[in-house]
Amino acid sequence: MRIRQASKTREACTLLGCELPIVLAGMGGVARSELVSAVSATGAFGFLGMVREPPALIEQEVGRVRDAGHCRFGVNLIPAATEPDLLARQLDAVIALEVPVVELFWQIDTAVVGRLRDAGIVVVYQVGSVQEARTAERAGAQIVIAQGVEAGGHVRGITPLRDLLPAVVDAVHVPVLAAGGLALGSDLLTATALGAQGIVLGTALLATFESFAHPYHRERLVAADAADTVLTSAFHINWPSDAPVRVLRTPVVALGEEQAEGRVIGSEEGRPIYLFSTDSPLRSMTGDFASMALYAGTGVGEIKSIVSAADRIETILSEAEEALPAVDTLLAPTSSPVCLAGEFSGDYMGHADQDEINAAVAALVEELRAIVQLTLRQQEAGPSGDHPPFRPEAAAMAGWLWLFSENRRPRSSDLPQGGLDIEARRLRARQILQGLLPRMAESDLRNTLSALQVQLTPEFEIIPDSKKSGSNPLNQGSLGTV
Ligand SMILES: Cc1cc2nc3c(=O)[nH]c(=O)nc-3n(C[C@H](O)[C@H](O)[C@H](O)COP(=O)(O)O)c2cc1C
Repeated sequence: MRIRQASKTREACTLLGCELPIVLAGMGGVARSELVSAVSATGAFGFLGMVREPPALIEQEVGRVRDAGHCRFGVNLIPAATEPDLLARQLDAVIALEVPVVELFWQIDTAVVGRLRDAGIVVVYQVGSVQEARTAERAGAQIVIAQGVEAGGHVRGITPLRDLLPAVVDAVHVPVLAAGGLALGSDLLTATALGAQGIVLGTALLATFESFAHPYHRERLVAADAADTVLTSAFHINWPSDAPVRVLRTPVVALGEEQAEGRVIGSEEGRPIYLFSTDSPLRSMTGDFASMALYAGTGVGEIKSIVSAADRIETILSEAEEALPAVDTLLAPTSSPVCLAGEFSGDYMGHADQDEINAAVAALVEELRAIVQLTLRQQEAGPSGDHPPFRPEAAAMAGWLWLFSENRRPRSSDLPQGGLDIEARRLRARQILQGLLPRMAESDLRNTLSALQVQLTPEFEIIPDSKKSGSNPLNQGSLGTV
């Protein structure tokens, strides 16, 4: 598996101690030891969602993950949504338990980051803006998660992931993971093309057998589409003000909050659940689940059934694997005239040295990345966030970037100016290849670049007579390169 092999060496995977570039979001209530253990068993990474949970539960859940044989996992805490006294006890607990990684969310709490780092814990911060990403990095976060407006649960920012992710990658030096509305293998490739070192899954792993969500919530996810989600501030009890959540649109979302004062709609082991609290239906609850917060990201339309976490992750990986370019097939004999045509243009200039090759590949990567971004900008019109963040079509070019730009950090989030469209970018990419390929010795990289040249060639493009080279037998037909 190319994805699995390449991922291990990524900085984010090294820091987290996982093999796969897939992370289970720290979902309060839902991501407990059963789900974290199931995710860890696949080689992905999992966070226990422990917001506002008592230290005894943290201890219990950490113990269960360890009893299942996993030593690399994390705990998610939210300082701004936790009483100071409880937060202090939670921090004591994770430090005493030597939890390897802690993920934090909402306002950046520098003191908490410092305390965790001093204890040798890897700190991950989920952020919703470039400014917050910078603050988190300055505070000492070693990984940031860029959370797009498409995310399920609490949503920190207002920016679509396709814009936020490359901007955050540009702004910080630490590895960046992408979150919000992700559910497909093509999402993994596209996020990587925009500079992410991995993806964070909430909703997609909430809808699994091992999540602690009540079956009611899971089944509602299976039946829902992206446009059934809504960003609302209705569910606010227990949280700082101005904390919007993405949930399924249900009748209570439209209710005025004044009608809700103190209304109990359920219970969890004797604890009352109030209408408009942030509690979502859990296995341990009873009550009017339809009136609780049914968190869902915009990837929910891709969730067609409840499966095991291992199956969900395996499906995403194999989708990504299948979307990677089939270099060998593109270089099959039938296509070789197209891919070689440019190499007989007559201007043989000697072999390119490594610096030239690196520079050409870097320029090529920029063109491919621009094509991915332009493809994403073709997103259907509509309110931001009522659709998944990435169009699957973007994965075709993103797959090439995976092959060329592993561990290569994109240079800038801004699309180069000049009004260039996708076709113009493809043309520039072809020109780069045409200049480079004739000057490269046989190698794996050259094969890959040749295959890309085939992929970029408009099928059956007619070479104008003026461009035909009489001495090149490959140009006698009607296929050309640029
Ligand atoms: C049910 C649910 C509960 C969540 N609870 C938390 C939480 O306690 N802490 C946190 O940092 N993020 C929480 N989130 C947000 C996730 O960290 C992540 O940003 C989000 O799930 C990504 O979007 P997706 O659900 O579309 O994959 C929650 C999300 C969901 C769906």
